[in-house]
Amino acid sequence: MRLSTPIRSRFAFGLVASAILALNMLPKAYAVEAPKIVQKDGRYALMVEGRPFLMLGGQIHNSSAWPSELPQVWKSMAALHANTVEAPVYWEQFEPQPGHFDFTNVDQIVEGTGTHNLHVVLLWFGTWKNGNMHYVPDWVKTDTNRFPRVVRPDGEPIDVLSPLSQNTLAADKTAFTALMRHLRQIDGERHTVLAIQIENESGNIGSVRDFSAEANREFSGAVPPDLLAATHKQPGAWSQVFGSEADEIFQAYHQAKYINEIAAAGKAEFAIPCYINVWIDYPPAELPQRQLDTPGIAYPSGGAVQKLVGLWRTLAPSLDMIGPDIYSDDSRFYRETMQAYHRRDNPLWIPETGREESFGKFFFYALGEGALGFSPFGVDETARSPVGEDLWKWHSRNFALIGPMSREIAELEFAGKLQTAVEEPGQSEVELNFDGWQATVAFGFPQHDGRRAPGTKDAHAVALVAQLGPDKFLVTGMDASVSFHLPGKKPWMRSQIISAEQGAYDNGVWKPLRRLNGDETDRGLCFYEPPEVVQVSMGRF
Ligand code: DGJ
Repeated sequence: MRLSTPIRSRFAFGLVASAILALNMLPKAYAVEAPKIVQKDGRYALMVEGRPFLMLGGQIHNSSAWPSELPQVWKSMAALHANTVEAPVYWEQFEPQPGHFDFTNVDQIVEGTGTHNLHVVLLWFGTWKNGNMHYVPDWVKTDTNRFPRVVRPDGEPIDVLSPLSQNTLAADKTAFTALMRHLRQIDGERHTVLAIQIENESGNIGSVRDFSAEANREFSGAVPPDLLAATHKQPGAWSQVFGSEADEIFQAYHQAKYINEIAAAGKAEFAIPCYINVWIDYPPAELPQRQLDTPGIAYPSGGAVQKLVGLWRTLAPSLDMIGPDIYSDDSRFYRETMQAYHRRDNPLWIPETGREESFGKFFFYALGEGALGFSPFGVDETARSPVGEDLWKWHSRNFALIGPMSREIAELEFAGKLQTAVEEPGQSEVELNFDGWQATVAFGFPQHDGRRAPGTKDAHAVALVAQLGPDKFLVTGMDASVSFHLPGKKPWMRSQIISAEQGAYDNGVWKPLRRLNGDETDRGLCFYEPPEVVQVSMGRF
């Protein structure tokens, strides 16, 4: 059928209009899916716009989330090559008077994040900050009747709010839901905000539990059924059921329920991932100023320390994850901590870690462990920063290397195709096992034929290998060589490099720069500084 021009354009307009109408009628979740965490075969990914996303994070100093500080924040994030800034939202600033919300800071952070092509994880500094209550508004600080404090065994109240108080819970929840509602309005379509941290290192510093009259009454009663079910215990009073751990578990129970209620209310407004960060339990030698390994002294009591992660996951199902803040550069402890938090029921995300050079290689351990992200703390250059400017150089170099291919790396992690090798003192070689192939990683140069690799002076070398196909790998590293071979055979025995391309990912597309051969491949692929990225195809003969 032939249509006259006006009729044709009216018809075309009608088609466009009904298409727009149909699009508007699509469920919102389909049209603009918010960030979410998914799990497959026991592995996790943070999905952002339908693809796994790796958070290369930088957490700013505690007092840097003010408009006056933001210009240097953006500069620092660029120098760090981060793709995600972690920035606090202060309850005291956000709700200066009850029910009056001030969105200035949060608006400028979210806006600036978008302008600078970054994402943001917002940290809700509410009831708790580092086991204290220092970020609550003045009207909460000064009204100890309405917002009761945790009381020590000797009857002294401390600067921590009690999670048993319904008033405090209601006040925090009201503010947090106002924040989430606002975020949905300003960011519901843009996905600048990836996740929200609820509270900061929650728990009590100063008392193992609340010994107020109300808390003591609860404590002398029976353990609630949901906790019995979660711990597989028989009914009884707290001390009978949990013995010497009763005080800490009592505190953890009330805190987990409190935070879960805040998370659930917030997610009802804007369903993006919510998590808590944890002041972990360090070996006493790591915290010499806190020699007593006692909850409430060594770490905030009630927090989701290593031994309590499972219990917290059960009691606070509205949280999407629990992330350890890791400030020890003892390599064994670092790895044990990652393993304690990387569980079938908990994705690994390191929301805070040391910015010093000695923490640089832990980024590669984290990638090998399938982490959703890794974020050194205190990386903006405020005038008040107690640290020099160069301290986070290694993190910056790592992020510059992984940044351009971070989506590919996140996908390979999620698919279980990625492994890393990290040097430890006295260990100059690591063997990685892949489907059909092995890779020998040797650390330090020069590497002489027939001799063991020398390692590096400070054991900092790393390598990352990911299987792209049955015989194809993506490889990078620093101060390390990587030689592929068939299981049980030496390199070049019944196997050969078909091609080795140095190149880079550019918006998801592999762009080769040159083909490596001869001295650059005959003794393995060699990675120095600045690091290179190589795709290698192997063959059998
Ligand atoms: C851990 C806290 O979570 C951060 O807010 C900050 O206080 C750092 N400690 C300081 O090292």
